[in-house]
Amino acid sequence: MSNEYDVVVIGAGPGGYIAAIRAAQLGLKTACVEGWRNPKGEMALGGTCLNVGCIPSKALLASSEEFERVSHHLDEHGITVAGAKIDVGRMQARKDAIVTKMTKGIEFLLKKNKVTWLAGWGRFVSTGERHAIEVANGEKKETVHARHVIVATGSKARHLPQAAVDNVTVCDNEGALAFPAVPRRLGVIGAGVIGLELGSVWRRLGAEVTILEALPNFLGACDEAVQKEAWKVFTKGQGLSIRLGVKIEKVTTRKTGVVVEYTDDKGLAQKLECDKLVVSVGRVPNTEGLGAREVGLKVDERGFVEVDAQCRTSLPNVWAIGDVVRGPMLAHKAEDEGVMVAELIAGQKPHVDYDCIPWIIYTSPEVAWVGLTEQKAKADGLAVRTGQFPFAINGRALGTGQSQGFVKIVADAATDRVLGVHIVHAHASDLIQEAVTVMEFKGSSEDIARICHGHPTLSEVVREAALAVDKRSLNS
Ligand code: FAD
Ligand code: NAI
Repeated sequence: MSNEYDVVVIGAGPGGYIAAIRAAQLGLKTACVEGWRNPKGEMALGGTCLNVGCIPSKALLASSEEFERVSHHLDEHGITVAGAKIDVGRMQARKDAIVTKMTKGIEFLLKKNKVTWLAGWGRFVSTGERHAIEVANGEKKETVHARHVIVATGSKARHLPQAAVDNVTVCDNEGALAFPAVPRRLGVIGAGVIGLELGSVWRRLGAEVTILEALPNFLGACDEAVQKEAWKVFTKGQGLSIRLGVKIEKVTTRKTGVVVEYTDDKGLAQKLECDKLVVSVGRVPNTEGLGAREVGLKVDERGFVEVDAQCRTSLPNVWAIGDVVRGPMLAHKAEDEGVMVAELIAGQKPHVDYDCIPWIIYTSPEVAWVGLTEQKAKADGLAVRTGQFPFAINGRALGTGQSQGFVKIVADAATDRVLGVHIVHAHASDLIQEAVTVMEFKGSSEDIARICHGHPTLSEVVREAALAVDKRSLNS
């Protein structure tokens, strides 16, 4: 029957569309339900990541980095450029074109793999040997049945009760990626990943950026060496004003902008006046309207679908992956869970190694890490040795003018196994992958030190940091 499937995936973000493609590759009759509409009102695949997350943010980061390079960093090469200007409309059009190309690409991939796109919002109607899912697209409703359902409904921005988001003046990620002009004064609530990435975009283009953060420390999940370096670079070096330990009291939108009233880390009442405000205080899972409660699918008190290590939910043959379940809210984690679940359904024995999922913050320089920080390893009672090496004395880094940052390796003192790697550098996102591979193969710092690294490359700094674990760096 046409509405009977082996697998129905709900949600076509990086978790869902990848799960659907892998299931279809494995010979399962697969459909993917997705109801997202883009600002033009067209239905679009790709989820948060492609529409209002990873892809558009990286496009704007790249444009703003180019602007900053041309405006401030070419002098040392003997290149003079006068009168550099930014046309925000064209920059946004470029970003939108990339998003369209990518989301249309997913449509092509689903067709190519014979995955049926069920356009609309999915909801559990009943569960049992075959689960019934209703797909609603406006007035149009259809019910499909599947042996397996994969919930990949993702997440949305968390909002604060004090700050009503209109995505014009007070914005979450959606509005902050679509400013039509550079705000003169930009306020950001939350010095997390979005606050730092989007704060950097608009600062480079000329905004005066102030970030208000509730916690008393900066980038708490990072190694302390990274926290210190990142604080120095982003505040003193780049002029982001970051205020820690604040409590947001009230946000008032006026005709000309926004006023944020807050209490600072000394308990004093303060006011921040800005033209636009970005609220980036984390994300919440999308489980409303899914019919979870009606069919007995367990959802925890924060709205996450409860799963085991292999993404099995409380219902037989119902799985959940990506941002809607525990673990880091990252596109590559969602994708890997999607592949794992499709392969489990097909009877294979895959797994996701949650200890080897890299994090990357795409600021300039970038911040990337995988595994344990030195502090966490010690708190866990592990004896460790560490090695750190700066890019400032690497020939390639000096040649490209990107010599800020370092590589730090945390290794087990007894076995030398690499437990964590932390990188601050313009190309940290690419460099971290060597560390992920070594850790996935349970390699040691000596393994990295003995592997031949091309010269002159930035990767030589990874090798020098590995040598530094044994106090035998060659170039310092
Ligand atoms: P989503 O991408 O959220 O997709 C879920 C989909 O399910 C959506 O399309 C939604 O419409 C659909 N859906 C929900 N409910 C239903 C329903 N009932 N029926 C049908 N469809 C439904 N991560 C990175 O790894 N790297 C980055 O650089 C990065 N940058 C980011 C930048 C920003 C500004 C943001 C906001 C996020 C960023 N992330 C990044 C996080 C990343 O976007 C998410 O981790 C990722 O998109 C999660 O994938 P997902 O498939 O679980 O969910
Ligand atoms: P986040 O969790 O990274 O940071 C939120 C910050 O807001 C935290 O520092 C938190 O302490 C602070 N905060 C919370 N409540 C607050 C309050 N009331 N007042 C002031 N500060 C407050 O969340 P963010 O930046 O919204 O991003 C959401 C998620 O999206 C990330 O955690 C990440 O999973 C994903 N993402 C990933 C990216 C990447 O991989 N490069 C880029 C952007 C987002």
